[in-house]
Amino acid sequence: MTAQLINGKDIAAKKRVEIAKEVQILKGNGITPGLAVILVGNNDASKTYVRNKEKACQELGMNSLLIELANGVPEQELLAKIEELNDDPAIHGILVQLPLPDHIDERKVIETISPLKDVDGFHPINIGRMMTGQNAFLPCTPYGIMVLLDETGITVEGKHVVIVGRSNIVGKPVGQLFLNQNATVTYCHSKTKDLKLHTRQADIVVAAVGIPNFITADHIKEGAVVIDVGINRNEAGKLCGDVKFDEVSEKAGFITPVPKGVGPMTITMLMYNTLKSAAESLNQ
Ligand code: GUN
Repeated sequence: MTAQLINGKDIAAKKRVEIAKEVQILKGNGITPGLAVILVGNNDASKTYVRNKEKACQELGMNSLLIELANGVPEQELLAKIEELNDDPAIHGILVQLPLPDHIDERKVIETISPLKDVDGFHPINIGRMMTGQNAFLPCTPYGIMVLLDETGITVEGKHVVIVGRSNIVGKPVGQLFLNQNATVTYCHSKTKDLKLHTRQADIVVAAVGIPNFITADHIKEGAVVIDVGINRNEAGKLCGDVKFDEVSEKAGFITPVPKGVGPMTITMLMYNTLKSAAESLNQ
């Protein structure tokens, strides 16, 4: 392997120490950051994510409140719960775990969360504020990617970044964060013709398509930075990313592994956003 590994686990651990210190300072000012997580239904992956979020809160000295609702909960009941949390001064962050059952309108749910407590950064007000470079809650996975690069000493300004994938949660916002840092950004997606033509020009490739081993060495310029956002299971049931790690790591300059790459940063930035919300509540 020639590429240098970007160790998300270590960088996340370092950031969590910094966040835990800030939590203690806030507690000294009488505020304990509180995160409410709403889980609807019985999705096993969602349950694991939610458990990890609770664990992270405990480790960093924050309060967490888990609200579990049945799969068939009426939409109105979920919206009323969110309104209640919007008005609760002990709660600084509200996260509704996605995906939601089909009978619930995801947009309506996201837009009911107060933008001041939207620690996922999914509310259109936070997205708009991010796009215009104002103070905002940044979505956790894109934010985590920017912190990984910064902590690794990789400059973004002037670089050509190619994003593969255009989801609302990762692809679209991460491109915006790169643009905010003066990168040149190309978005590629399932309808892109000749994907390799684009990715081979990239100084930084972000793979966020959700297809195991989709990005091969052939897609990558020698020495490029490769960020793998994928969390997939291969045929053998083993966790793998969107990047064919064995061959791409022979060609790239830097690469994030799966697991222990981008993944640990997502919850870390959620904790950071909850801390930020609690700190900002002092001035409201
Ligand atoms: N489901 C998968 N990723 C996420 C996330 O970042 N936030 C929420 N709320 N749900 C998710």
